[in-house]
Amino acid sequence: MIDNKTLDVAIAASVDKLQSLFGAAPEVAVVLGSGWAGAVSHVQDAKALPYTELPAFPQPKVEGHVNEVVCGRIGGQRVIMLRGRAHTYESGECTGMAGALRTLKRWGVKLLLQTNASGSLRSHMPPGSLMLIADHINAPQRSPLVGEPGSQRFVDMVGAYDPELRQHALALAKRENLMLGEGVYCWALGPQFETPAEIRMFAAWGADAVGMSTVPETILARHAGLKVMGLALMTNMAAGLSAEALTHDLTLKQAQMSGERAAAFLAALVASFAELTL
Ligand code: HPA
Repeated sequence: MIDNKTLDVAIAASVDKLQSLFGAAPEVAVVLGSGWAGAVSHVQDAKALPYTELPAFPQPKVEGHVNEVVCGRIGGQRVIMLRGRAHTYESGECTGMAGALRTLKRWGVKLLLQTNASGSLRSHMPPGSLMLIADHINAPQRSPLVGEPGSQRFVDMVGAYDPELRQHALALAKRENLMLGEGVYCWALGPQFETPAEIRMFAAWGADAVGMSTVPETILARHAGLKVMGLALMTNMAAGLSAEALTHDLTLKQAQMSGERAAAFLAALVASFAELTL
């Protein structure tokens, strides 16, 4: 449960810091998951600030993550990128991104674009594929809003991944000749990978991809009043669907191999928001 009073002080200080270094808020914030770090190289006039300077932000310690924000523009669209997120498997708490996301909202950000690395449940999405998240399954049935006061906590999760922006992303992918499937992302708590039986169950439920992040942030962001989009990079076939042993190294390796293409599409997507009113 979040101590909102303490968090509020940290959020106010974090907003001040962002405002004084970067000025007015960009409309778009991107959370960079494993495999997406290359997107930072697309940011022009980039300025970075470590999470240690932002008291409402988490300090996660997963291999392959750097903990800083990078603010600048891609084409005509200003953007802030978050390198590093708190995962529920690190602490058992699923509220780790609450302060960061509420800071972004209070600063003036409109859209949270999440990225992650996922295991694929579908043979038509082999490793290297990109999936636009259309919906999610909260398999652990954990909520970062437990203990929140007021009726605002009863967040409508229909259309949580903005339907209009999804159409926009699909049209852009078509123009860029990029295969972009839409699908359902299933959150598994981790840190262990899933069993083949769990994967069969998730597939029967309608999941297309599985991963250990994103869902708590989507819930927090919708509660805060941010629009949300999600892009998942398939780094492996999920447990039991391939002969290859599942390891963190395998996911990082595949993420590196396909990361450049993923980052290029992400950059094109961010730039395209300049044509829209978010
Ligand atoms: N399962 C859970 N999380 C993941 C996977 C997976 O197969 N691949 C990358 N992140």
